[in-house]
Amino acid sequence: MTPATDHLLPLLEKLTLEEKVSLIQGADFWTTVPLPKIGLRAMTLSDGPAGVRGPRWDEREPSLNLPSGSALGASWDVDLAYRYGAAAAFEARRKDVDVVLGPTINLHRSPLGGRHFECFSEDPELTAELAGAYVAGLQDNGVAATPKHYVANDSETDRFTVDVKVGDRALRELYLAPFERAVDAGAWALMSAYNAVDGVTMTENDLLEDPLNSEWGFDGVVISDWTAVRSLDSIPAAQDLAMPGPAPAWAELAAAVRDGRVQEADVDRKVLRLLLLAERVGALGDSVAATPTEIDGVSLAHEAAVEGAVLLSNDGILPLAPVASIAVIGHNAREARTQGGGSATVIPERVISPLNAIRHAVPAAQVSYHLGAVVQDGVAEFPLEQMTNPRTGEPGLTATWVDAAGEALFTEDRRASALVFFGGDAPVSSADKFVVHTIYTPEENGRVLLGFAGASHARVFVDGALVVDDTPVITGTDLGAAFLNPPSATAAIEVTAGQKIDIRAEFTVGGVLSALEGVFSATLGIAPDDSDPEGLIAAAAAAAAASDIAVVVVGTNSKVESEGYDRENLDLPGRQDDLVRAVAAANPHTIVIVNAGSPVALPWADDVAAIVLGYFGGQEFGTAMADILTGASEPGGRLPTTWPAALADVPVTDVTPADGVLSYDEGIHIGYRAWLNAGTAPAFAFGHGLGYTSWSWDSAQADADGFAVAVTVTNTGDRAGKQVVQVYAERAESAVERPARWLVGFAAVRAEAGETVTVSIPVPARRLAHWNGAWAVEPGVYTLKAGASVADLPLEVEWTVDA
Ligand code: BGC
Repeated sequence: MTPATDHLLPLLEKLTLEEKVSLIQGADFWTTVPLPKIGLRAMTLSDGPAGVRGPRWDEREPSLNLPSGSALGASWDVDLAYRYGAAAAFEARRKDVDVVLGPTINLHRSPLGGRHFECFSEDPELTAELAGAYVAGLQDNGVAATPKHYVANDSETDRFTVDVKVGDRALRELYLAPFERAVDAGAWALMSAYNAVDGVTMTENDLLEDPLNSEWGFDGVVISDWTAVRSLDSIPAAQDLAMPGPAPAWAELAAAVRDGRVQEADVDRKVLRLLLLAERVGALGDSVAATPTEIDGVSLAHEAAVEGAVLLSNDGILPLAPVASIAVIGHNAREARTQGGGSATVIPERVISPLNAIRHAVPAAQVSYHLGAVVQDGVAEFPLEQMTNPRTGEPGLTATWVDAAGEALFTEDRRASALVFFGGDAPVSSADKFVVHTIYTPEENGRVLLGFAGASHARVFVDGALVVDDTPVITGTDLGAAFLNPPSATAAIEVTAGQKIDIRAEFTVGGVLSALEGVFSATLGIAPDDSDPEGLIAAAAAAAAASDIAVVVVGTNSKVESEGYDRENLDLPGRQDDLVRAVAAANPHTIVIVNAGSPVALPWADDVAAIVLGYFGGQEFGTAMADILTGASEPGGRLPTTWPAALADVPVTDVTPADGVLSYDEGIHIGYRAWLNAGTAPAFAFGHGLGYTSWSWDSAQADADGFAVAVTVTNTGDRAGKQVVQVYAERAESAVERPARWLVGFAAVRAEAGETVTVSIPVPARRLAHWNGAWAVEPGVYTLKAGASVADLPLEVEWTVDA
């Protein structure tokens, strides 16, 4: 299909070959090439997708930090996904961004996937519905969406080179389906993945043409994942924009056109698409993009955290009755993880910890705090309020780039001790050293492990004395992970509360990161002291025993869930399982909040009074959790992914290529489909989640035209509540292999106490179709079942498809 670009042909005709070639490659890390002679300004691209970072990683330009993709998936709320996209558009324009690099709509094929937290669900239908809404929310507000990563980028091990072998049926019914819906929703761009599918790297793969362009009618720009363009073979393929740019693999492009190795028509097609994108976002001539609707980001972040929080179990303790004392326990209670690691990271202006939020929400109770177990791995940056910039006397530090002759190239005042340079205008490439200097005020007496995290050599001086001189060892080969999540080196030093110390660190610029032009990261801080794990657990258990209730916040750390590598197991890091067991033994009124972006094993699940899964809940995670505890808010989430009891039960765990190949041997059976096949019971089923009211499932009826199911439910409790009505299809006598049951539609409904609500859930024929070289709907009888999870389906209706 030809996009509607005829009106842009006169502009194309004005361009020289060199200009065309430059336009389809980035100008730098985050912007495209401007061309004033045709009225084209540069467009700025930025990561999200859970908020928009902007082209600089800089705490002085903070971003809204929304809950991660898996939390949005857990909301099952299409309207919320639309507003989440709209909020991203508002953020984007605030930061002069035209194109948001999201949503991430790969599937939760395995819970081990490193970017699981960033993706919505294990189910293509749930993912697709939310993806379409997110795309529309962004684009209705004038900012382009870039659904990513097309396609089969469902894990991270060897992500640049892995060749995914996946059958056509699984590709169409599972992995392509969310992209298809995002294109239906009108996506103006899409990101091609690093990996190969069936032997061909995605930036050169036929899948970019068919089905994307030819069948689905995509008329946008295929943006490469960063550095994923590898050769001129991506020119005849429908790969449109190489990022970042200029792309080394296209250095000879103009010459190749001249000597006939590639066709100019292929270049023209890309240029036209790029101009169309520019017109859509208001970057070309008189074109004007829609002005984003102003959105209160903080309240949306709170709402999304509440709607994405899943109440996994509750013996009736929640919502809390008034209590006199609460023992709050856990590293993540004080330092919550609001997002996963990698390119999706944004820097929020403020984060409310669960501990502070609980103190605020239950002012009458006495709230104690105990760490209980060490979760942090490596140094954590210094809190801003404990740092004084020696140059200005303000909170923060000075950061100076120094050249090989020892001359300062550039100095700036920063307000964080974890600094990332990735694009932006810092003189990384011409510097030899990066020097940070601060005055640190300890809050407690004792021994601390002070040091740095970085991917190269550094020296740390305390009051002028050299205390650390080290090059931390990088594990793995992913340079992205190496600089976004670098290893640490520390030394033990004695400090006295209130007694300031002068800290200066000198990072050597270069090392493994020299391969990435302009990229650098440096963190200064303190690593946790894990010398007495039993003592930490005992103190927490004693506090729990002495309190009315205990709230333990368990979770992952920044080394566990990130872009660039996969997880090796589902265990909570450190001694957190022992901690929960000890606290639960000390106090039967123990509530656990899980602060993780993907499934973790909860081996003590039956021993605690309630479990709230808060995911990576964004900057309002703390207030959302406190409101759920008190009942000010009802947890609105339902699992978008089957929650295993143990890794051994998980049907799909293979994320490691063998000889470069990762085979999706499970075919169409991932997630709950695979669990149903295996007959193993998970800890919590797909779709499961409790609320604070009760419901009756009254009836399910096929609408007269047979393309929707009307489901009636009644809120039989005494407070307003949310229910997620889920509709699954079954086809007992199918001539083709099928999942035992698959999701065909859903709706989040809300009802007052006592209210009865009927919701009509569309089930177009395509939801019943299978891929057989083309979409085919088997004639005959389907059973549609409705209920509150894949394992709890009290209503059913028969549905006959005519031959
Ligand atoms: C990630 C993309 C991201 C890009 C730019 C890549 O490494 O896979 O998701 O948009 O970097 O940061």
